Amino acid sequence: MKSSHPYISSFSFDQRLAPYDIQGSIAHVRMLARRKIIPSSHAKTILSGLNSIQRDLAKGKRLRAAEDIHFAIENELVQRVGPVGKKMHTARSRNDQVALDLKLYVRDKTKQILDSIHSLQKTILNCATKNKSVLMPGFTHLQHGQPIYFAHHILAYAWMLQRDQDRYQGLIRHLNESPLGACALGGTSFPIDRNFAAKLLGFSRPTENSIDTVSDRDFILEFVFDSSMTMVHLSRLAEELVIWSSSEFDFVQIAEEFTSGSSIMPQKRNPDSAELLRGKSSRAIGALMQLLSLLKSQPLSYNRDLQEDKPPLFDTADTVLDSVSLADHLIRTLKLNRTKMENSCKQGFLLATELADYLANKGVPFREAHSIVSQFVEKIRSNSPKNQNLEKIPLSDLKAISPHFDRDVYQFLSLHQAAKRKNSYGGTGDRALSTQIKNLTSLLQKN
Ligand code: ARG
Repeated sequence: MKSSHPYISSFSFDQRLAPYDIQGSIAHVRMLARRKIIPSSHAKTILSGLNSIQRDLAKGKRLRAAEDIHFAIENELVQRVGPVGKKMHTARSRNDQVALDLKLYVRDKTKQILDSIHSLQKTILNCATKNKSVLMPGFTHLQHGQPIYFAHHILAYAWMLQRDQDRYQGLIRHLNESPLGACALGGTSFPIDRNFAAKLLGFSRPTENSIDTVSDRDFILEFVFDSSMTMVHLSRLAEELVIWSSSEFDFVQIAEEFTSGSSIMPQKRNPDSAELLRGKSSRAIGALMQLLSLLKSQPLSYNRDLQEDKPPLFDTADTVLDSVSLADHLIRTLKLNRTKMENSCKQGFLLATELADYLANKGVPFREAHSIVSQFVEKIRSNSPKNQNLEKIPLSDLKAISPHFDRDVYQFLSLHQAAKRKNSYGGTGDRALSTQIKNLTSLLQKN
């Protein structure tokens, strides 16, 4: 089979490694000259050729197709500077070259993702601060639980994203070793200086074992896992936007530019962008499975199977960058239907916990208090199911279930008070929420 055969060739998809490949070659050639492995006049010629290719590619010029991007650039170089260009590949193999390109690519994309996650966190923080006093039902099992502040709910996503930030930062640390100089698998007898090349490329040091180096794709797996995690977070956010914007909930309105109509039902405004955000998470998850199974049975060291690491990696990087930016726009333009959210708190006995807590404060063991209130709520549910807001429950009804109830209970039987008073650290209460906002603000300023 010819090496240009589409089954063998990776050029159609690895072209996007071109800037990283050239960056790696520049460092390699500078090292070769420094160690006098090639004459510095030759190195100069090669470097000016590589720089001119880099400039032309940035202007949109395309390379002639080859087996892969590494050959395509080498061919173009020889075309431009003549046979001296054939010296570039001294003391190098495509095996350490491709490992290097991929590390540079992943490092670059990780930094871009970190920036865009940071911007999304700021957008969420902004949305929370602007809507600090909006009340909504807090859910467990998608059933009404307790009244909470919307700000508290939406900020949960900023903290998930903070963990994503930490994970990506960890990956940047794992990307700190340069593969260049591992060559095909066993290193080289040329007197190369791996430390020098590593420093030129912004790595702290060279890798320790050349066999591991050309076989290692852990950093790609890690990148795709970190990205899948972020996509799962965004997918959960998207799912909430879909639910909240449904006619049944009507808590929020997604900006028109992010909705689509129906080809048959003229009235429709579907939350397509949010649904796609949810749907696209499956790409990253699929890529993760693809890469795990790609690696699991490969003997050391390099095998051509590894070429298949690129499509899932590139697709994941594109997906996560587009998705974080879309989520940012969705939240930035989201409109809240405050009245609807607050009225919804009147359903589902959201103050039942307050009643139980009240009794517990009066000395009734909590388990007993829980049981008293639970029976009370059950009775209302079967007798007058419409009346699920406990704010206006007559004192006589309360006294009938426990003599501990008194007039002061109404201080606690308020949806606003119930949310406001939950000031345990990390809770939804107004003071706890302010602390949370302060902590997140200073964290985001530091990054
Ligand atoms: N296109 C190849 C890849 O992506 C480059 C390395 C080829 N190495 C080899 N020994 N055939 O993995």
